[in-house]
Amino acid sequence: MTATQDDPLVIRSLEFAGGVVDPDGWRPEVSLPEVAFSGRSNVGKSSLLNKLVRRKALARVSQTPGKTREINFFRVNDAFYLVDLPGYGYARVSKTLRDRWRQIIERYLRTSRTLRGIVQLVDARHPPTPDDLRMLDFLSEIELPTLVALTKIDKLGAKERAERLAQASLVMQLEQEQIIPFSAMTGEGRDELARAVADLVQDPPRSSE
Ligand code: GTP
Ligand code: MG
Repeated sequence: MTATQDDPLVIRSLEFAGGVVDPDGWRPEVSLPEVAFSGRSNVGKSSLLNKLVRRKALARVSQTPGKTREINFFRVNDAFYLVDLPGYGYARVSKTLRDRWRQIIERYLRTSRTLRGIVQLVDARHPPTPDDLRMLDFLSEIELPTLVALTKIDKLGAKERAERLAQASLVMQLEQEQIIPFSAMTGEGRDELARAVADLVQDPPRSSE
C-alpha cells in the first residue's frame, strides 16, 4: 500500500482564511468545524502544522520565537479549519501584551461553537512549563477535548523518551492515548495526529455554554 492510500488526512485543498487580531475582530463564519493548536513559543507549532498538511511553508517556521501573533485560520478541503493560536510564554514580550493575548486566546476557546478540540503542544525535552499546565487546566475547565503532542521527540534517546512519556502523562494527568510523540524532522506521529484531527472534526459540536 502506498502512503497516500494510508493517509488518514488527504489534503485536497488548503487556504489561508485569515487571522484574528483582536477579540472583536474578524473570524470565519461558524459553519465548519475547527481544531486548534496551542503551545508555548518555539515549541514547534508551525513545523507541526506544516508536517500535518504536508506543506513546506503553510505556517511560518521561525528561528526567532514569538512570530505568530494572530489566531490564524486555515481551511482544509473546504471541510474544516485548522486554527493556529499564537505561542505563549515568550519572555521578551511585555506582560501586558502576554495578558492581552491570553485573554484573546481564552475568549476564542471559550466561545467558538464550532471548535471540536485542541492539540496542545509540549516540548518533549522538558517538563511541561507552568504556562503549559495553566493552559491544560483551562482546557479541562472548559471541557474541550484535548490531545497533547510531545514535540521534537527526535531529540531524545530511547531511555529518555520512555521516561519523558511516563512523566508527561503523570504531570499532565493524561492517559497515554491522549499523548502523541511527534517529530517534524522524522515525521513520527504525523499520521496518528492526522487521524486524531480527522476524528475530532467528525465529532458533534459542543453544547453551547
Ligand atoms: P513561534 O511561532 O515562533 O512561537 O514558534 P513555533 O512554535 O511555531 O516553532 P517553529 O515550528 O517555528 O520551530 C521552532 C524551532 O524548533 C525551529 O528552529 C525548528 O526547526 C525547530 N523544530 C521544530 N520542530 C522540530 C522537531 O520536530 N525536531 C527538531 N529537531 N526541531 C524542531
Ligand atoms: Mg509559529
